[in-house]
Amino acid sequence: SGLHKVAVIGSGSWGTALAKIAAENVAKRTSEFDPEVRMWVREKQVNGKKLTEVINKTHMNSRYLPDVELPENLVAVPKLADVVKDATLIVFVTPHQFLHTVISDLKRVPGTITPGARAVTAIKGVEVVGTEISTFASLIESQLSTPCSALSGANIALEVALGQFCETTIGCPSGVDATLWHAVFDAHSFRVSTVEDVNGVSLGGALKNIVALAAGMVDGLRLGGNTKAAILRIGLSEMTEFTLEFFPGAQRQTFSNESAGIADLITTCYGGRNRKCAEEMVKTGHSFDVIEKRLLNGQKLQGTATAQEVNAFLSARDAVSKYPLFEKVYRIAFEGMPPAELVKGL
Ligand code: NAD
Ligand code: 13P
Repeated sequence: SGLHKVAVIGSGSWGTALAKIAAENVAKRTSEFDPEVRMWVREKQVNGKKLTEVINKTHMNSRYLPDVELPENLVAVPKLADVVKDATLIVFVTPHQFLHTVISDLKRVPGTITPGARAVTAIKGVEVVGTEISTFASLIESQLSTPCSALSGANIALEVALGQFCETTIGCPSGVDATLWHAVFDAHSFRVSTVEDVNGVSLGGALKNIVALAAGMVDGLRLGGNTKAAILRIGLSEMTEFTLEFFPGAQRQTFSNESAGIADLITTCYGGRNRKCAEEMVKTGHSFDVIEKRLLNGQKLQGTATAQEVNAFLSARDAVSKYPLFEKVYRIAFEGMPPAELVKGL
């Protein structure tokens, strides 16, 4: 038909919020976009009914984004192949733990992905294999042969879905990707800035989750605003230096000037789930697995796995001591280091 067709893979709180924005935008631009946006929903029974049917009937995702009305042109679909059928613009937004399964499911049947399709990932995390680290954008690009951008910013899902003003950053491999993804996502209360820095945007989103755990530990230790500000400053510095060291070509300004850098760090260290769970960990001494199940109602923590993966990578590169805040968070979360050690010797 010559129209672009948007598909969203993932329907947790952020997947649903992003799908809502995309569906609202494409409905206003029917000369460029197919008006239906499909969203992959991992089927689940909710009060005896299928979640996809509940979403399509009530136009709400009661399970992951309660009380937010969704547009009628957003359609929940349980089968991945049906979601991406004929899609030219594919949004990846599952929790990072599940991306590998999604990719192998998409690869199982050749021809599932429309030739010429483009992708964007809004997943926060990194891919570590031994001494190598890479972004999910490059994983998607290499596995599915689609150019892949990265969307990340100061975007607590519920606040975005309620239409509260905020900004986001999309790192794009080319100007064509930038124009298309800007058209899909830019809105009055969701301002999109595009930059040619896929790695910087991806690493900003992934690494701030480690710093957010530290910020939650500060809250759990009942330390004040000065300490948290120091953690944010040190954290931003480690995030920036880590990215410039291991992703040459990434831009310092992405961290200092973009929503995907400083702004996301701030919102997550005050209002995010990683912060909340780390505070609880310090106060109760329970493990993150237990706390995640108890506090997040099926949503997934991203910072703990990222702290582990970054630590494994830095160990493999013999560089752990260059990033002392990342190291402390890992050791407190996983090696029984007393939380009060967080701020000692930083
Ligand atoms: P979420 O934390 O709400 O997780 C729930 C989702 O995980 C549901 O769609 C559920 O079906 C899915 N899920 C659970 N088990 C699964 C399995 N075995 N296989 C496949 N899917 C499974 O998800 P989210 O908040 O939408 O997070 C997705 C990504 O977006 C994360 O990387 C997160 O860091 C990022 N992000 C989240 C927010 C936010 O405020 N929630 C904001 C910006 C970015
Ligand atoms: P949490 O996963 O810690 O809630 O952070 C959400 C986020 O990435 C906001 O931009």
